[in-house]
Amino acid sequence: MGDHLQVERDPDGVAWVTIDRPEARNALSRPLNLDLTRLAGALGADPDVRAVVLTGSGDKAFCAGADLKERKGVSAADTGAYVDAISGAINAWARLPRPTLALMNGSAFGGGMELALACDFRIAVEGAQMALTEVRLGIMPGAGGTQRLPRLIGVARAKELILLGRRIDAARALEIGLVMQVAAREGLRDAAAAVLAELAGCAPRSVEMSKQAIERGIEVGIDEGLRIERACYEVTLFTEDRNEGLRAFAEKRSPRYTGR
Ligand code: COA
Repeated sequence: MGDHLQVERDPDGVAWVTIDRPEARNALSRPLNLDLTRLAGALGADPDVRAVVLTGSGDKAFCAGADLKERKGVSAADTGAYVDAISGAINAWARLPRPTLALMNGSAFGGGMELALACDFRIAVEGAQMALTEVRLGIMPGAGGTQRLPRLIGVARAKELILLGRRIDAARALEIGLVMQVAAREGLRDAAAAVLAELAGCAPRSVEMSKQAIERGIEVGIDEGLRIERACYEVTLFTEDRNEGLRAFAEKRSPRYTGR
């Protein structure tokens, strides 16, 4: 998948995706944005994909955001299309129907942070720096940052980070609920594997429908949200996995979910 995106599929249906541009701190170039968009579409359409892990190569950056060198050469007239390409890629990741985990092997700035915000779970390496730096660059977050960050950590804290362009480290990110876990570098992959093992004990359709209920429900009033929840719930009622879950409970054994 392109020159700067590596994809490995493991036998459990997990796609491990690595942004591989360490020399540019995994910055989001035009071709990379296109590849990320296409890949998200392909992974989302593949029923065998149970979860997706997104990480960066090297030990410096998860993703340093928009490619600022490339961006320097973009005319004012083309800037809209440039921003659309980044937000298109990040929104495509946010729309993935199955669970996504940003495994933050290093710092995340600007669009890199917005990419992490578009994932369901975030695990950061100790010491990783994070910031929405845009206001310090004379722009503003344009790939979901102003919308997803307040939904995740609340308006007051999001304003601190966005309006001040403040940098925080992984420990602070954990305190404010921006990441779910901080791990030492040597334990980073194991930390992801532990979450994936937890997910493996959950019925894939149940997880997918729960994700959908949360994502759609957070945008609407509670009554409409409850209707969305009910509609999602009904999908799980007619799955083989529902019967398997009940059988396994009765037989006092672990369930073997198939996603059907
Ligand atoms: N776009 C393009 N290239 C980038 C980049 C970006 N966003 N971020 C880093 N790079 C490049 C640097 O220009 C440098 O290239 P060079 O070797 O040709 O000079 C290379 O990656 C290494 O960067 P460097 O700053 O030396 O590495 P570092 O490990 O000391 O610091 C960062 C890494 C990410 C902390 C730092 O590069 C940085 O602050 N980048 C900008 C992040 C940002 O504000 N992004 C928001 C964009 S909206």
